[in-house]
Amino acid sequence: MPHDSSLPLSRAASLSLMRRIHAAHSAAALPVLSAAAPLPPRALADEERLALQRESIVETLRRERLASPRLSLVEFGAGDASLSREAWRAAAAGRFCVVDRKLRAVGEGGEGGEGGEGFRPRVLCADVSELEAEELCDAVEPGEGGTVVLSNHLCGRALDESILLSVDAWHRSSPGKLAGVFAVTCCHDGCSWRSYLGKSFLKSCGLDGAVDFEQMRRWTKMAPRRNAPAEGRARVVREASRLGISCNAAAQLGSQCREILDTGRALYLQALGFEVRMVQHVDFRVTADCVMIQAVHRSHIDGPSSNDIVHQSQA
Ligand SMILES: C[S@@+](CC[C@H](N)C(=O)[O-])C[C@H]1O[C@@H](n2cnc3c(N)ncnc32)[C@H](O)[C@@H]1O
Repeated sequence: MPHDSSLPLSRAASLSLMRRIHAAHSAAALPVLSAAAPLPPRALADEERLALQRESIVETLRRERLASPRLSLVEFGAGDASLSREAWRAAAAGRFCVVDRKLRAVGEGGEGGEGGEGFRPRVLCADVSELEAEELCDAVEPGEGGTVVLSNHLCGRALDESILLSVDAWHRSSPGKLAGVFAVTCCHDGCSWRSYLGKSFLKSCGLDGAVDFEQMRRWTKMAPRRNAPAEGRARVVREASRLGISCNAAAQLGSQCREILDTGRALYLQALGFEVRMVQHVDFRVTADCVMIQAVHRSHIDGPSSNDIVHQSQA
């Protein structure tokens, strides 16, 4: 009888999947390149950590030559729109649209936030799973240089849905209109098989179907967290003991699952003609969710960029 994907795998099936994950990770996962700036040797306040993340994302747009008043910028899962506001201050785009299912500071006036006077993004209070490409096209006046899509910690399946929506809205009618996608990933346990964009990549790695995907999704929760050693986390200790591996090995398995899932998303965009990479944009001590998928459409690439990025795998 086929395994019900909503249930954990048996120990034997888990060990077999673990071996296939290790093999897929070393053979096919995109390396995570380091672009993280060095940190000062002291503890960072929460606001400081958030500011570092925003600054580094805007710096990435500049480095990839996708910061210009000729562009439109759409941020999915924007929260209070602090990131878009930072991009606006840096003149990284000429038009802004922020999308979130919950209205926060920005939704109430469109220009909330310290130092944001004059920042008037188009605000869409909507769940990305319910948005239609046409609605998005109507809401976002296209920049002559195209549209850049941004997200920072947009949870699980909402990221896949936002990428698909953006491709449908801009890329399908006119490749190049979607100039780039920059997505810092998180909450991989909230991904869903139905929305996940990397199914064909998983299949090519021998990780096939909802059963493997569901277990990988659950294992992503074991990936290392800031200030929380693996051996002090009940979930990691439990699963490490079930699999007969060390707590650090279990945490590393969680990271590998995350990187494989993110590689599938990046390669989906690569197949559409985007140049892709995965980059660690800030130090792990700033946030454990520090991997960004970068996809720049070839029509916007006119020479080498990002030559300050050091090639380095995290795992
Ligand atoms: C972890 S918060 C990140 C907020 C902001 N990007 C930041 O970095 O501070 C995730 C945000 O995504 C929004 N979100 C999650 N799922 C969504 C969905 N399906 N559609 C629209 N927004 C969503 C949440 O409301 C929340 O504001």
